[in-house]
Formats: sequence, structure tokens, C-alpha cells
Amino acid sequence: MIVRDVEIVGREGRYDIEIQGGRIARIGSGLPAASKEIDGRGLTAFAGLIDMHVHLREPGFEKKETIESGARAAVRGGFTQICCMPNTKPVCDNKVVVSYIKMRAAEVGLCKIRPIGAITEGQEGKNLAAIGAMKAAGAVALSEDGKSVASTGLMANAMMYASDFGLKCLCHCEDASLVDGGVVNDGYYSTLTGLKGSIRAAEDAMIAREICLAESLGLPVHICHVSTYSGVQLIREAKARGVRVTAETCPHYFTLTDAAIASFDTNTKVNPPLREEKDRRAVVEGLKDGTIDCIVTDHAPHHADDKNVEYNFAAFGISGLETSFALSYTKLVREGALTLAQLAEKMSTAPAAILGLEGGKLEEGGVADLTLIDLNEKWKIDPAQFVSKGKNSPFGGMEVYGRVKYTVVDGDIKYEEKRA
Ligand code: DOR
Ligand code: ZN
Ligand code: ZN
Repeated sequence: MIVRDVEIVGREGRYDIEIQGGRIARIGSGLPAASKEIDGRGLTAFAGLIDMHVHLREPGFEKKETIESGARAAVRGGFTQICCMPNTKPVCDNKVVVSYIKMRAAEVGLCKIRPIGAITEGQEGKNLAAIGAMKAAGAVALSEDGKSVASTGLMANAMMYASDFGLKCLCHCEDASLVDGGVVNDGYYSTLTGLKGSIRAAEDAMIAREICLAESLGLPVHICHVSTYSGVQLIREAKARGVRVTAETCPHYFTLTDAAIASFDTNTKVNPPLREEKDRRAVVEGLKDGTIDCIVTDHAPHHADDKNVEYNFAAFGISGLETSFALSYTKLVREGALTLAQLAEKMSTAPAAILGLEGGKLEEGGVADLTLIDLNEKWKIDPAQFVSKGKNSPFGGMEVYGRVKYTVVDGDIKYEEKRA
């Protein structure tokens, strides 16, 4: 197959990309015709996008999402590889669930799906899960996502065991005793709405703890979905003194603020909560200066039944796979915070490097995972059109730029936008 006459992120000019046997055979110009060709005119080629933080809900919550529906949403969003969090039912805390996810992923055959194992059995915070067995079955990281491991001692042990097996802990940072039932950011809008607020320290205290552990133990740690200005600063300072910390954020934290909760739209309910403008700006700054290494969706699909309830009772989460690239490109690149090459780094190269995954680079000899995007196409987000089962997005009606046209995995076209 040849992708003909396409722009490539980070390079001047237009190229032909020849794909053979699932790898990128050649990048050149005027390459001989192939039996299958993609017309790349008007498109930009990225190394396949990688999302290292998604929730697929299977097994156990198939009403919200399945491995198949989540994978369809992923390739529609331009992702060739995703990593799924273990807060399923049963929890992915053993090799059987890890193997099940891999088996379903292979049957579905769309994008690469890499399971993340739980840190503790049942995510109950008591006993470490079977880390070695999960690694052997194909887990690529460990996380207690949805909560933190409350016991600092247990978390220290988890980091040491994880490191023995070559895995990293991805830390959802939340001190439950400080959150104490809060559902939004504590501030002007929590007062205005009467919704219970959660202070930044609920997130920051845990970010600080994980940094302390990483520093003392000399081990790596990854901080999930950073949302506070103070959390960004903690990570920046830790990196400056050489702590092995990496971090991610999500499009909603650099696109929205807690002003959005004034609508009482439960699609704005997410954990950690949308913060204030100074936090949003700090997240953008963190992306710019490299404090925040990558962009993930924290794709958290929910059924309407879990969202069409009073704000206090609604589930936390945003369905993000189908809007992540366009939001990031529109908010960060078009508004001048990042270059296109930096965005490709945040959405592909960095997550591959953090987890040691294949891909993340568009180069001769590399795996043929590609995303082809029309950067100039403007479109309006309509959650009803999502192929994800989760239509829960606060971005409905927003106009964005950047439309995924093709998603190619191991040299096979797994998604092609249907022309109207
Ligand atoms: O908003 C969220 N939703 N944050 C999390 O940490 C978990 C996630 C979920 O599983 O729904
Ligand atoms: Zn989380
Ligand atoms: Zn999550």
C-alpha cells in the first residue's frame, strides 16, 4: 500500500509512504504505483495516536462500553493503540482478566489494546495484586485508577514490585479524606451551584506523596490526569531535581473550567473535577514546557442512566476518544501553545516511550501505525454521532478543527471516514 502525496508531521514537503508487511518500507517521492493507494493530498500523516488511559468497561459494564465499541471509538478518534484501565467487574487484577481483554481485542481486530493491571486485589487497597502473573499475561502498567492506594506503605511496596517486573505505576491522585464527597472543584462555582467542592490539595497531596516515594526509592512514577496549577508545579519541581516522574493531562483540563458546571450538565462531572482558569492555563504551560509529557483522554463512557440524574448522583467521566485530537489541535496548536510536532509527541511518541510500547514514530522500518488527518476541516462535535456507547461529552456543539480520515494499524486500514 502507498499513502501518496501526504504531508508528514515534523517534515517539510509532501511524501509517498510505502507500507509492506505491516511496516513502513519507504518514505520518498514518486514511488511506483501500488495495488492499494490512499490519496494523501490535503492530509497530514501522524505516527498512530496512542492513548495510554482509557476505560473500556468490559468485563462487567457492557452497557457503558465494550471492548468492541471502545475500539471502534478509538480508531475513529485516530488511535492505533490504547491502554485500558482495570476498574472493570471483575477488576483486572489477575492474568485471567488480562488474557480475556487481549483475546477480545484480537477478535475485534481494530486497534491494539494493552491492558493495565490493578495495583491491589479488587482495587481494595489491602493486598497487592498478582503483578508478575499480569505482566506475563501482557499487562503494560499498573494502576488503581478511579482512586489512589490509600496506604503509603502499600504504595511503596507496589512501586518496588512493579519495578522488579519492569512495570510503572500510573497514579490517580486523590486523597479520599480530603475529597470527602466533593463532586466539583471547591471555589466560586461550587458556592454558586451549591454543589460540594473538593479542594486542590485532595489531588496535590497525593501527587506530592507519589513524588516523594519515587524520589526516595529512585523509581519511576506516572501521574494521571493532572488538573491543578499546584500539581503542575509539584511535578515541574520534581523533574528539575531529577525525580523520575512523568505526567499526563486530558483535553477537558485545558479546554474547560469549572464555569461549565453552572449549567448543572452532568457531562461536566469528571474526576478530578474541572478547575479554574489559572489551573487551565497552568496545564497549558505544563504541556508547553514539558512538565506534562502526554495527552490522554481518560475516556470514561457512561450510559445515559448514569448521567441523567441529579448532579450529586451522576457518574464521573467524559467520553473522550472521538474528540481528543480535534480538541487538542484546536486548543493547543491553533491557539499557538504547541507546534504540530509537539502535539504528535504528546499524543504518540511520549506515551509509547513512557510505557515502552511499539510505535510512536513515523519512520522507515517502523511499524505501520498511522493516522491521517485533515487539519483544515472544521466540524461541530455531536455526541449523538459517537460510535462509543458513551455519549457523555460536555463538548456538544463546539466547533473544532482536525478530522481523522484514516487510521492504519499494522499496515491495514482500520478506519476510513465515510464521505457524506
Ligand atoms: O472521571 C473519571 N471517570 N475519573 C476516574 O478516575 C474514573 C473514571 C471512570 O472510571 O469512570
Ligand atoms: Zn483517574
Ligand atoms: Zn481514568
